[in-house]
Amino acid sequence: MNNSTILVTGGAGYIGSHTCIELLNANYTVLVIDNLDNSSEESLKRVEKITGKAVSFIKGDVRDKALMDRIFSENTIAATIHFAGLKAVGESCAMPLEYYDNNVNSTLVLCQAMEKANSKNLVFSSSATVYGDPEILPLTEDMPLSATNPYGRSKLIIEEMLRDLPESDKLKNSTNPWSVALLRYFNPVGAHESGTIGEDPSDIPNNLMPFITQTAVGRRKELSIFGSDYDTVDGTGVRDYIHVVDLARGHLKAVQKLLSKDSINGVQAYNLGTGNGISVLQMVKAFAEVNRVDVPYKLVDRRPGDVAACYADATRAKEELDWEAVMSLEDMVKDSWNWQSQNPEGY
Ligand code: NAD
Ligand code: UFG
Repeated sequence: MNNSTILVTGGAGYIGSHTCIELLNANYTVLVIDNLDNSSEESLKRVEKITGKAVSFIKGDVRDKALMDRIFSENTIAATIHFAGLKAVGESCAMPLEYYDNNVNSTLVLCQAMEKANSKNLVFSSSATVYGDPEILPLTEDMPLSATNPYGRSKLIIEEMLRDLPESDKLKNSTNPWSVALLRYFNPVGAHESGTIGEDPSDIPNNLMPFITQTAVGRRKELSIFGSDYDTVDGTGVRDYIHVVDLARGHLKAVQKLLSKDSINGVQAYNLGTGNGISVLQMVKAFAEVNRVDVPYKLVDRRPGDVAACYADATRAKEELDWEAVMSLEDMVKDSWNWQSQNPEGY
């Protein structure tokens, strides 16, 4: 039994809400801060229903320094998972300052509050986007990092900023040094098996899976497949899709690692992916076959900024976090559809 409190920023969002379930099921006490800019409090009500446990919720912004100080002074936080941020690549090109403010500044304010409270265990939501346009696949954590857009650059800047913290501990001879897990997600899809929580983009979806599910449910006329002339198995883009429940369990494993005797000494990056590359056409076909629904599509030009293929080597997460993805492509397409068909308009 344990009832340590885990602070989850952005916990009402897609990955955060699924992670809250895993934390509650493992008997952690969960405190969520979210400004609900890209989510609804309803997701947390459903998390409570699924788990039969309560979530403490604070509606607020992680950039609010006074609020963050208050949260850390009023609670003993064993570890923090920092999901809060903006995540749309295209939007980040149009409004870079909002992205740097929301993503970099929120992390800065959060870490200042954590340092002040001497609560220095952090799990950070990074992304495979930090590998830029990869030259060698599968991607291991020590491959070169680069950014191709402001969203990716914000993640890179944060990773760099976090790497400076353990260095400062050394200079200060800190007896409670920072322990930071940078989790680099590949492409999260799927939903909780209940179909009651899932991905609910507020605008026209940028990502493949919500576009597929919204097309299948009749909200979109057809899927545009961006590019059919890549050097891949069938010419369409290849990605490492990972079930969001597997991803959520990766966060639980990272928290458990941070709170163990064998904690992370400083900062360590982990790829969270399956290691399998799936093409857009393979995904559309699997979705249509498993769910017996039609997904009308057309082949169009490449989307600027897309890479041909991207998939993970997740060996480090297996060796050091005792985590690996176990859910199949069938689980991913079945659970995505289960959520969308039960909630055609989202929350
Ligand atoms: P999401 O938008 O569903 O969740 C993010 C949550 O943070 C939302 O509930 C939003 O309201 C909240 N939020 C945003 N800015 C905030 C702020 N300043 N203060 C308080 N709350 C704030 O997104 P998600 O898919 O769950 O992604 C979570 C994290 O994972 C993000 O940092 C994202 O960049 C990262 N990530 C996501 C993907 C993906 O494809 N979904 C891939 C790689 C990395
Ligand atoms: N795709 C389509 N049609 C669509 C949407 C996507 O064909 O309507 C294709 C893309 O061209 C790509 C694949 O589906 O080949 C996956 O595209 P997504 O937009 O779902 O995902 P990306 O790999 O482009 O980006 C995702 C996240 C980013 C993150 C990146 C790397 O959205 O935030 O993974 O982790 F940076």
